[in-house]
Amino acid sequence: MVKTDHEVALLRQSALLVSKTLAEVGALIRPGVTTLELDVRAEEFIRDNGGKPGFKGYKGYPNTLCTSVNSQIVHGIPSKTAVLKEGDIVSVDCGVLLNGYYGDSAYTFEVGEVEESTRKLLQVTRECLFLGIKAAIARNRIGDLAFAIQQHAENNHYSVVRELVGHGIGTHMHERPEVPNYGRRGAGVRLQKNMVLCIEPMINKGKREVVEERDGWTIRTRDQQPSAHFELTVAVGEHQADVLSTFSFIEEN
Ligand code: MF3
Ligand code: CO
Repeated sequence: MVKTDHEVALLRQSALLVSKTLAEVGALIRPGVTTLELDVRAEEFIRDNGGKPGFKGYKGYPNTLCTSVNSQIVHGIPSKTAVLKEGDIVSVDCGVLLNGYYGDSAYTFEVGEVEESTRKLLQVTRECLFLGIKAAIARNRIGDLAFAIQQHAENNHYSVVRELVGHGIGTHMHERPEVPNYGRRGAGVRLQKNMVLCIEPMINKGKREVVEERDGWTIRTRDQQPSAHFELTVAVGEHQADVLSTFSFIEEN
C-alpha cells in the first residue's frame, strides 16, 4: 500500500490532470447544459493532455465522468436527456490514467442559485473531506480519519453513506486500503507515509439509506433528499497529508 517517492510524483501528475479537467467541466455548468456535454468536454480535455479516461470501460462503465444530480449520490451516467436546471447540484466524478497511474477526484457543483440548506450540505461535506485529510498522517489509523468525517457530518444532522467508500490508488483505480467515511477511532489499517488515498465523503441531507437505479449504475438516496460528494487524493505524510489533487482550478474560475 506504500508508494515510492517516484510513484507519488507520478500520481501527483495524474491528480493534477483530474483537477484541471474538473475545472474545465465546471466552467461549462449552467442551466440548460446536459451532463453528456460535460462528459464530452472532459474526455476531449483528458486526451488533449496525453491521458485516457480512467472510468471508461471500468467494469463496463460507459463514460468518462460520473454525473450525479440532486438525490443521486454517485455513479450517475451522463446523458443527453439529463439537462441541468437552476437550483440543481451535480457531483462530477472524474478519473484519468496518465503514465500508468490513476487520478480520481470529484466536486459537487451548484447550478445557478441553490437553496441555502443545500449549500450548507455542500459546505459541511467539504469540511468533512478536509477533516479526513487532516487525519491522513502516519501512525493514525483509517478509523481515526473515518471517525473525523462521520462525527462532523452527524454533528450537523446529516447522514453518512456506508455502501460506498474511498480507496487507495496507484496503477489500479481502486487499491487497498478501503477508506470508509464512518468508523471508530483506533480501528483499521495503520497509516504509513506515502500511502496514497482517495478520500471521498458522500453525505446525505436526509437518511443514509441508498438504492440503485434501474440503469444498474446510479446510486441515489432512498428518501430522495439531496446528497453531496467531494473527493481528493492525498499521500499520507509524517506530520501532514500531501494533497495531490486540488479544487483551486475550479474555485479560481
Ligand atoms: N470514482 C469512483 C470511485 O471513486 C469510481 C467510479 S468507477 C465507475 O470509486 F465505475 F463509475 F467508472
Ligand atoms: Co474514488
